[in-house]
Amino acid sequence: MDDPRGRLTKDGIRIHEAGDFAGMRVAGRLAAEILDDVAALVEPGATTAMLDDFIRERVTAAGAVSATIGYRGYQHASCISVNHVVCHGIPGAKVLKDGDILNIDVTVIVDGWFGDTSRMYAAGAMPRKAERLVQVTHDALMLGIEAVRPGATFGDIGHAIQSYVEAQRMSVVRDFCGHGLGRVFHAPPNVLHYGRPGSGPRLEEGMFFTIEPMVNLGRPETKVLADDWTAVTRDKSLSAQFEHSVGVTATGVEIFTPSPAGRFHPTR
Ligand code: MF3
Ligand code: CO
Ligand code: CO
Repeated sequence: MDDPRGRLTKDGIRIHEAGDFAGMRVAGRLAAEILDDVAALVEPGATTAMLDDFIRERVTAAGAVSATIGYRGYQHASCISVNHVVCHGIPGAKVLKDGDILNIDVTVIVDGWFGDTSRMYAAGAMPRKAERLVQVTHDALMLGIEAVRPGATFGDIGHAIQSYVEAQRMSVVRDFCGHGLGRVFHAPPNVLHYGRPGSGPRLEEGMFFTIEPMVNLGRPETKVLADDWTAVTRDKSLSAQFEHSVGVTATGVEIFTPSPAGRFHPTR
């Protein structure tokens, strides 16, 4: 998909125009609203397919399009990643049980703009170990977002996330990253959730991208299952993730996917 407007940096990162923020706001809001509303269905006994059906219906009812259905052969309106699943969990017959934690990741297209966001949920009561993991992962995302301003670098974002997570004796997944987006789903740059201050491309006003750290209680290594999608921790340790779509403004950052209900974390 080609995008005629704006310009590209030498790293191939699109600089969007001032008016483009409005499109991202609308797309981001729908994705975030759907994540607000699916919370009521997350309970022991529910299947991940039931949650995905709800999400698919909400996308359609809004007159929007799911970005994930048909993406590289993927057939679902969300990714639902339970416990030691790191990301790209496929919704299906899996029944949630009390104490399961799960990430639900939704990407919608509204008027051509992509809104991509994910959060953590618990079926029933969140176990204490999981509580800490989820809190650290959320705080890591927000620290990464706080590093976003013109003149900072992508390495500054990664460093903010990695240094915080590792100080909590948890690990940052290296095998998956955030991404540029806008009128496309995945565009340059790769937004790494680890790095050195001052490294990587410099941030400029008008860049749109996701930050979506995955944090493991154990080791960072992952593997992809035979279904070619589901990524799990190699050591079977619990994993968590939060994702926002953001834009670089003249003075800092705009989050396109805040929860309209104030539910981003905790989710209920
Ligand atoms: N929403 C995911 C992301 O954050 C991508 C999911 S692609 C899918 O980039 F095909 F697995 F749905
Ligand atoms: Co994303
Ligand atoms: Co996503």
